[in-house]
Amino acid sequence: MFEILSKEKLAHQIFRMKVAAPEIAKKAKAGQFLILRVDECGERIPLTFCDIHADEGAVTIIFMVVGATTRKLSEMEPGQALQDVAGPLGKPTEIEDYGKVVCIGGGIGAAVMYPAARALAEAGNDVTCILGARSEDLLILEEELTAICGADKLIITTDDGSKGIKGVVTGPLEEMLKAGNADLVIAIGPAIMMKFVCKTTEPYGVKTIVSLNPIMVDGTGMCGACRVSVGGETKFGCVDGPDFDGHQVDFELLMARQRQYLDQERIAMDHYGEGGCTCSP
Ligand SMILES: Cc1cc2nc3c(=O)[nH]c(=O)nc-3n(C[C@H](O)[C@H](O)[C@H](O)COP(=O)(O)OP(=O)(O)OC[C@H]3O[C@@H](n4cnc5c(N)ncnc54)[C@H](O)[C@@H]3O)c2cc1C
Ligand code: FES
Repeated sequence: MFEILSKEKLAHQIFRMKVAAPEIAKKAKAGQFLILRVDECGERIPLTFCDIHADEGAVTIIFMVVGATTRKLSEMEPGQALQDVAGPLGKPTEIEDYGKVVCIGGGIGAAVMYPAARALAEAGNDVTCILGARSEDLLILEEELTAICGADKLIITTDDGSKGIKGVVTGPLEEMLKAGNADLVIAIGPAIMMKFVCKTTEPYGVKTIVSLNPIMVDGTGMCGACRVSVGGETKFGCVDGPDFDGHQVDFELLMARQRQYLDQERIAMDHYGEGGCTCSP
């Protein structure tokens, strides 16, 4: 169960893995995610389905190494198996014919945006993708996104100008909004990017969906770790989301809650490789 079938390095610290998970692959949809543990003592981490291969009984994930668990996962090789994988979790992205849709992926958020962009294109939408990263070496899925929307509708931005437009994703987005070329915007990436995308679309009254990434533990609505505030109401990212109306999200609270275990995360990385936990007999 949960054997790693393939592994590929896509960019600096970013990996794509295909994992055998037949029962999950039968039901998973774009926008949903899984929670995995790499080993018996492992932390539970959520990752989005990037591709679902129901016929092969497998799913593809793309992840960035940001801490101890993603580092451990990146060191696993095809033939090894994950301890456990739970899913599919969360609500699928609502796929309809909206008209002109702008899909924005910032950094590793591109991996989460990709399946939604593909499903929206398949549903007949006119999809434009904006792919943003700090620099060219961190851009992922250019080829896959070109296959969805065509090279003329894939806009690249980099903070340092090493590829595409120098600057951030909100620049080309504003141009599209001014030209009336956006009926719906989907933005997935760091919370700060999603916040500024929402500030950009709000004056134009264009509906903006964001995929929130609060810290999650059980992923089934029981622990409350993933609570977020949307329209003044408390919601659970794992069961009410991860997609929400971005204009209603309290991003300051999301960012504060994302930072709450920074000290423990630093300790886990500082002690990485020293033998791990001793909670099992
Ligand atoms: C619904 C959802 C889907 C996601 N999909 C992807 C994806 O497809 N690809 C990808 O690279 N990342 C994705 N993430 C983020 C990913 O879960 C974190 O990068 C990962 O948990 C980090 O674990 P770590 O031990 O390596 O790092 P740590 O050092 O533990 O944490 C680094 C940062 O990651 C975040 N994080 C840590 N633990 C969790 C947790 N249990 N739940 C959520 N966030 C956490 C925190 O912001 C933290 O500051 C997703 C998160 C959510 C909530
Ligand atoms: S992760 Fe526990 S309630 Fe959402």
